[in-house]
Amino acid sequence: KNTQTLEILGDRHPTDEITNVTPAILAKVPVRLHTQTGHPISTLRSIIESYYPGFSHISSFSPLVTPFKNFDELSFPKDHPGRSVTDSYYINKNLMLRTHTSAHEVEVFSKGEDKWLLTADVYRRDEIDSSHYPVFHQMEGARLFSADASGMKEVEEDNERLLRHLESSNIIIEDVPHISSSNPVQPTHDPVYSELVAKNLKLSLNGLLLRLFGGSGSEEPLRVRWIEAYFPFTSPSFEVEIFFRGKWLEILGCGVILQSTLDTANVQGRIGWAFGLGLERIAMILYSIPDIRLFWSTDERFLSQFKAGEISTFKSYSKYPSCFKDISYWHPEGSTLHDNDFCDLVRDVVGDIVEDVKLFDSFVHPKTNRSSSTYRINYRSMDRSLSNKEVNELQGLVEARLIEKFRVEIR
Ligand code: PHE
Repeated sequence: KNTQTLEILGDRHPTDEITNVTPAILAKVPVRLHTQTGHPISTLRSIIESYYPGFSHISSFSPLVTPFKNFDELSFPKDHPGRSVTDSYYINKNLMLRTHTSAHEVEVFSKGEDKWLLTADVYRRDEIDSSHYPVFHQMEGARLFSADASGMKEVEEDNERLLRHLESSNIIIEDVPHISSSNPVQPTHDPVYSELVAKNLKLSLNGLLLRLFGGSGSEEPLRVRWIEAYFPFTSPSFEVEIFFRGKWLEILGCGVILQSTLDTANVQGRIGWAFGLGLERIAMILYSIPDIRLFWSTDERFLSQFKAGEISTFKSYSKYPSCFKDISYWHPEGSTLHDNDFCDLVRDVVGDIVEDVKLFDSFVHPKTNRSSSTYRINYRSMDRSLSNKEVNELQGLVEARLIEKFRVEIR
């Protein structure tokens, strides 16, 4: 068992006791939707790139990174939940699939880049529903300024320009202070500089959101909400939500880059911001794409609807019927299966035919102390009708794999 290897992007890697990538996930690694001309993810990427003239465009880094690069180098604490095998995909204990594009910050800054955008596929173990998929795409943007009077003059001029642009537009922004006691300036930063940089970050992102969602003018104003956030590698930090169809949707995280990150990259005398945004979330809104699985569809009825460089409204081809199946089991004695273990197993066995998975019920037996879970799986193909026979077979395969892999007892 110890000598097993996995081939990923042409290289072989040893597995170990924490390996948890599945074939379903590895099959997505070479796809790189952000590089497929005409695909909504790729078009959205180019629109964002065109909003930031003068920025370098990067998309060549491998998704395989060390945990050091994904976490430690960015000051994640040792006990951060993102590190756990239930949240992230590991090839082995020294190699994982990046969970965010920030994993490349140090590398890019080390090359001397100071205005850049990096687009990449990222991987996170998660539940299954219409807006969560374990592979998605992020775009990281960063900009550095000289941490001196001339750098700050550049910031102020840029802020003036951005402000003028936003003043004449149909956007309502709920803001928070650039710096506060709960969202502090870094000890090594001049508070005046940090404020100016945070303001530049906010203005440029408000401008980007206006470009993306501002629409054709006369409609409802765009509503944007800034909230204080925490990331281990920025301070102050923010999240941005936009109001869409009656709900606030989180679309990005950002902040003033931690000086220690720049120190690690050997960058001196600079101060700057970084953001990371989720391309699928934004594309789902812009193109009215109702289910995140559709981005992976190779069906012509999906792909033929899009043209490079253009945002168009997706027209759903008929929705095929759902088929719900429940599965109940006793967890193995002395251990409990994580939700994400169950979801990855289902995805691996049935692929994108699973639309969502809900934990329906769970309890602990008062006498034996064993725990039981019931999940409801919603089977629905995006391309065709499923027969009852086929779904029953899939459900049977899920049960068999559960028993084989986790030694559960089906109830
Ligand atoms: N990497 C963060 C995430 O994925 C987003 C982020 C990027 C936050 C850059 C701050 C700066 O959630």
